[in-house]
Amino acid sequence: MQIAQRITDLAESATLAVSAKAARLRADGIDVIGFGAGQPDFPTPSHIVQAGIGALEAGHTGYANPASGLLLAKKAVCTKLARDNALTYAPDQVIITSGGKMACYLAIHAVVNPGDEVIIPKPYWVSYPEIVKLAGGTPVYVTGPEENDFKVSPELLARVVTNRTRLVVLNSPSNPSGVTYTPPEIRGLAQVLQHQNLCVLSDEIYDQLVFAGHEVLSYAAVNEHTYAQTITLNSASKTYAMTGWRLGYAAGPVEMIKAMAKLQSQSTSGAVTFNQHALAEALLEREILDSSEIEAVMQGKILKPLKKPVPPTYSGNGAKEPEADATPDAQADSETTPESPDTTGSADGTQDTPTAPDTAGPDDGAQQQDTPTATETDAPRD
Ligand SMILES: Cc1ncc(COP(=O)(O)O)c(C=O)c1O
Repeated sequence: MQIAQRITDLAESATLAVSAKAARLRADGIDVIGFGAGQPDFPTPSHIVQAGIGALEAGHTGYANPASGLLLAKKAVCTKLARDNALTYAPDQVIITSGGKMACYLAIHAVVNPGDEVIIPKPYWVSYPEIVKLAGGTPVYVTGPEENDFKVSPELLARVVTNRTRLVVLNSPSNPSGVTYTPPEIRGLAQVLQHQNLCVLSDEIYDQLVFAGHEVLSYAAVNEHTYAQTITLNSASKTYAMTGWRLGYAAGPVEMIKAMAKLQSQSTSGAVTFNQHALAEALLEREILDSSEIEAVMQGKILKPLKKPVPPTYSGNGAKEPEADATPDAQADSETTPESPDTTGSADGTQDTPTAPDTAGPDDGAQQQDTPTATETDAPRD
């Protein structure tokens, strides 16, 4: 039987392969530490598990309708993004997916045409280039200097942007390096990208897992230009130890989210329905640290509480608590994009004070750090 060429050419997920090998070695009694898939070392908090069980028992076992995600989950995402990331989105700007990887897959396939270039800073999460290649795109790698923790400077980034660049993948905090770009560094990258006719995929799945004193500034929150060009991606996997639930989400311009939803409707038909209730619980619940997690904080494993106090609202269209059982029609009616996003800032990127309500904004007071010296760009064009 013939295997399609594009699947023959596709590399297996290296992280999953390494994880499987580590598990095999452990089963053989060998003491190994796996650096494969990032599996949190605490279980899914029980209130989230209970929300999933409750949704199952309440009969939320049919198809997710619409396929782009339940309204209650989308509203919870809007609340999370306003609260933690100073980003104002309405539910029709949000898609709920089967894991962050699926959000990444949908976004890349929605944006990239054959021959398009996609800039990926190195080191990178190994799925990015494979998904780009599957979409017919060409990964273009750029590496910051090791002495600056591999962070890419604006100058270095500017060198690899061409008129064929269609997408730039940003991943801060980063897997695998763990590096977090400071707010001034994010603004510096925005100065290079914000007026380019390209899309930015900002993978922020580690935004809540940062060491004390490190601020995460969402790329989309820099100003209205970055807001308009960005798909912000996140997932329940790491923050809430929900890797096996397969729950991710993305937010961005309505047309882009619609395109991603179209592909989702022709592939998975959407994230698991009862899991989406658990996602809403995870994102809206005010405090998830239990005693073992607090112990982990004390031991320095986690230096930042996973959740901050939250008002259970989002600012998009004035809706309050998510409804438990919105009908598909009701969902369609209320998924309204705010007329203008509450992200403001100067075009030159020197100021950025997104005005999302109820939210502590990013640290604007930090001084611009020296940008790393460009030492190399490596761009395997073919
Ligand atoms: C940077 C990055 N993005 C996306 C993902 C996908 O996460 P998920 O388990 O939600 O599919 C991972 C998983 O390790 C990751 O490290």
